[in-house]
Amino acid sequence: MIKIKNDKEIASMRIAGSVANTVLKEAAAFIAPGMTTKEIDDYAGERIKAYQAKSAFLGYRDYPCNICISVNEEVVHGLAGPRRVQFGDIISLDVGIRYEGFIGDNALTVAVGGCDPLSQKLMDVTEASLYEGIAAAKAGNRVKDISRAIQKYVEANHFSVVREFVGHGVGKTVHEDPQIPNFVEKGRPSPKLKAGMTIAIEPMVNAGVAQVKVLSDGWTVLTKDGKPSAHFEHTVLVTNGEPEILTCSEKIPSSLKVS
Ligand code: MF3
Ligand code: CO
Repeated sequence: MIKIKNDKEIASMRIAGSVANTVLKEAAAFIAPGMTTKEIDDYAGERIKAYQAKSAFLGYRDYPCNICISVNEEVVHGLAGPRRVQFGDIISLDVGIRYEGFIGDNALTVAVGGCDPLSQKLMDVTEASLYEGIAAAKAGNRVKDISRAIQKYVEANHFSVVREFVGHGVGKTVHEDPQIPNFVEKGRPSPKLKAGMTIAIEPMVNAGVAQVKVLSDGWTVLTKDGKPSAHFEHTVLVTNGEPEILTCSEKIPSSLKVS
C-alpha cells in the first residue's frame, strides 16, 4: 500500500528532511584524513542530538550505528569502526533522521581531500543520475520512468547500477512501498506516481560490475570486483508539478538552527 501524505505530514517530512540534509552536509565537512569511521559516526550522532532528532537507522533491524559510512568498494550500509580514512578515499555517507515521527533519508559520496579521476567521474555521474531520476518523479509518471532515467544516464557513462538494493517510499518508517529500482526490468510492477507520495531515490553506482556481496558483518555491501562505488540519495515529494526535494538543508526552520 502506497501512502499519500497530507499537508501536515508533508510539513513534518520537510522538517525531518531538512535536518537529515543538514547533518549529512555537516558530517561530510567533518571528514579529514586519518580519522576513524567511528569518529565520523560519533560526530553525526552528536549533530543529530543537537537538532533534538533521532537516527532513523540506529536499531532499525538491529543496525548498530548512527549513520552508514561506506568506503571505496563498500557500496552501502558500511559500519563505523576503527578503519582510518585516507587521502584519496571516497566515502559514502547515508543519514536517516526521525523528527516528530517522520523520516528524512539522504546520502552522498565525498572524496577525502581529493581522489583519482575515475572516482571523481563516478561520483559526478552518480549524483547527476539522481537528478535525472528526480526529474522523472512527477505525478502521472510511473516508478519505472525514474528507474529508466537513472539507468540510462549511468550506463551511457559506462558505469553499472546495483540491482540488489533499491530506493523506496519513506514516511513514518524508513522503508515503505513502493520500491524504486535504479534499473528497469520486464514484468516488474511499476505503480503510477501520485501527488503526496514521498520517496527516497538512491542510485548506487559501481565503477566495475553491478554485482555486490555482503560482508561477514551482515551489513556492509561491497562490490564483487573490489572497484569503487558511489551513492547519492534524496527524499522527494511527488507533486502535480515539479518534484520537491525534502532533504534540503535550506528548509530548516530557523528555530532549529543550532551551532
Ligand atoms: N538509506 C538506506 C536504505 O534506504 C539506509 C538503511 S540503513 C539501515 O536502505 F540501517 F537502516 F538499514
Ligand atoms: Co534510503
